[in-house]
Amino acid sequence: MLMSFSLMALLVPVIGFAGFAGSAAEGTLTKQPFGNTTDGHAVELYTLKNGTMTVKVMTYGAIITSIEVPDKAGKIGEVTLGFDTLEGYLKGHPYFGSTVGRVGNRIAKGKFSLNGKEYTLATNNGPNALHGGLKGFDKVIWKAEDVSGPDGPAVRMTYVSKDGEEGYPGTLTTKVTFRVAAHHDLQIDYEATTDADTPINLTNHTYFNLSGPNSGTILHHELMLAADRYTPTDATLIPTGEIAPVEGTPLDFRKPKTIGAHIQQIKADPAGYDHNFVLNAQSERLPIMAHVYDPQSGRELIMRTTEPGVQFYTGNFLDGSVVGKGGAYKQYGAFCLEAQHFPDSINHANFPSAVLKPGQVYKQTTSYQFATR
Ligand code: GLA
Repeated sequence: MLMSFSLMALLVPVIGFAGFAGSAAEGTLTKQPFGNTTDGHAVELYTLKNGTMTVKVMTYGAIITSIEVPDKAGKIGEVTLGFDTLEGYLKGHPYFGSTVGRVGNRIAKGKFSLNGKEYTLATNNGPNALHGGLKGFDKVIWKAEDVSGPDGPAVRMTYVSKDGEEGYPGTLTTKVTFRVAAHHDLQIDYEATTDADTPINLTNHTYFNLSGPNSGTILHHELMLAADRYTPTDATLIPTGEIAPVEGTPLDFRKPKTIGAHIQQIKADPAGYDHNFVLNAQSERLPIMAHVYDPQSGRELIMRTTEPGVQFYTGNFLDGSVVGKGGAYKQYGAFCLEAQHFPDSINHANFPSAVLKPGQVYKQTTSYQFATR
């Protein structure tokens, strides 16, 4: 009797009982009004808290506005770029925290053909289409529901993109679930269905700086990427179609090295990483694909994903003109790890297919887990 009683006492903090009425989960989910869009739609901000990790996601763009986790001294702090108010996001920004779709990254010249039909999209990035168009999934209102459960507080965002929206075929219903699981683990699950064949490539575009927004550059962060190969591009960042080894290039992160170690060797203007890496293993078992360590704060970030690629971007285009939490965001002030299918997949038959058909369910899971050392 006594034995089982003390065992119970030991188990309580592990399994946890706080938070959700009727469920055995730890953590809390709360919501608050976050202002209105210029066309009058009310936006809500959801706060997901589990232990010492807090994540905020809003219904505008299904955007992660904040991630707070402890540093090596146990001090809790912000690790993403973004704004404290909705206005900052409405004024325009380079996809901070955004859910990106219907097709993340670039489509060459905004053109593709599918089932013998030609489609033309708006070109919003030089000659190419970028991140879903003029009004991509990062600029629409999502419907939120509380799906918290034993694995932690969770909010599911749903958006129905109409046939023809931004030039894409088929009505696409997308559900993105954000969950803060135990051990500082932010899990993002994507699911989508369509009523006609469509290209799809969903990702999240959070900008991380493990020492905090505007704490300096991320050039001293150490990165490991489990990628032997990458997809070389032309000057407009469209893949040539080649899949090339990282060996002997500044893109070799197979053993951890600082992000800054070889960044200036990259021939691009502005210089910096903005490349799709071909991940070594694609599996539903969520293998570790990237690991980042910041010696300054002692924080670590581990990315796991089901996706075949990741766009590693070092904030090359940040030039101090966007002022957010912490101040003006400068070049290399953050990095992004956008788990995805390869850019311009729809125009490359040798890349993993990014076409969703009626009757199929698109799924992708990516998690960002934090630790310290
Ligand atoms: C992606 C692209 C970059 C840039 C950013 C947003 O990472 O690959 O070139 O457009 O989004 O600024």
